[in-house]
Amino acid sequence: MDTRIQSVKSKAVQEFNQSESLEELQQLRVKYLGKKGEVTQLLRTMGQIPAEERPKVGQMVNQLKNELAVIYEEKYAELESKIQQSRLAAEAIDITLPGRKPKAGSLHPLTLVLNEIKQIFISMGYQVVEGPEIETDYYNFEALNIPKDHPARDMQDTFYISGDYLLRSQTSPVQIRVMEKQEPPVRIIAPGKVYRSDADVTHSPMFHQVEGLLIDEGITFADLKGTLQVFARAMFGPDTKTRFRPSYFPFTEPSAEVDVSCIMCRGEGCRVCSDTGWLEILGSGMVDPRVLEHVGYDPDKYTGFAFGMGIERIAMLKYGINDIRLFFNNDQRFLDQFK
Ligand code: FA5
Ligand code: MG
Repeated sequence: MDTRIQSVKSKAVQEFNQSESLEELQQLRVKYLGKKGEVTQLLRTMGQIPAEERPKVGQMVNQLKNELAVIYEEKYAELESKIQQSRLAAEAIDITLPGRKPKAGSLHPLTLVLNEIKQIFISMGYQVVEGPEIETDYYNFEALNIPKDHPARDMQDTFYISGDYLLRSQTSPVQIRVMEKQEPPVRIIAPGKVYRSDADVTHSPMFHQVEGLLIDEGITFADLKGTLQVFARAMFGPDTKTRFRPSYFPFTEPSAEVDVSCIMCRGEGCRVCSDTGWLEILGSGMVDPRVLEHVGYDPDKYTGFAFGMGIERIAMLKYGINDIRLFFNNDQRFLDQFK
């Protein structure tokens, strides 16, 4: 009996010490100390040994039981701490690695250009005002000397909403809104979104204009020309070539469209300038006396000029952008270039 106990003991001690996982350890506990375990089996065989030896053997088996229980506890604690160590090692954060910088946003190229346009005109004493994008037929057309059924309505392919409402096709209605509220002298610019059913590399169905309006006594076409030349040189550099081309707008007389030499091809002709070497940036003219009459200004006393420029066109020229759609595609690679 003594040797059986010893052999169970040495086998158990060895197996407990060699176990490598908590599951394995658990199985060993069942194997030796469980209800049908080997140590328990030893106690069951007590009946077969002489009565006088039983207390001694019983003591030895109990001692073995206690010893194995202690070994089990120790081994359990050891394995548990090993598991924790390896988990800590796996989850360790290397605080010496450089961090990831948060990506800073930047202003959209159209915002940059608009800010510059504002700055140039503010420095010449203009005020910045705004008007609604949803307009009435009256402000977008009628008050600008474009009656219903007038062929000039076809110059701008307008998005109508319902009844009298439409998406403004130009910023010119802001001229009327300002003059209705204010007596001359007037000196304003009015930036904002405008809409037309129009789409190709230089035309977008939603685009931005900046309207300009100056009304006072004694204003002539020379003032308009000088103002726009100062603007073009401030915007595109002192060597900028501008071209005033006779044109027609119902609300100005005389009217002119202003082109800037195409910077994409330096005037040689390309896709962007439709092989003309020039890119139209604005429409302008002397405010038609009928428009002044409409808002109650005395056309014999006051004269003035107005202009409406396309911000996208100016940004395309300034940054050498050959497709207007780039402004609205939200391509990060494009936008990141304007930091
Ligand atoms: C007008 O819109 C007139 N209201 C301008 C004006 C104001 C004339 C005051 C006289 C007095 P026009 O349709 O030509 O004119 O447009 C003006 C500018 O807007 C153009 O020179 C061009 O730079 C820009 N533009 C016009 N259509 C588009 C478009 N679909 N996409 C981008 N830019 C455009
Ligand atoms: Mg035009």
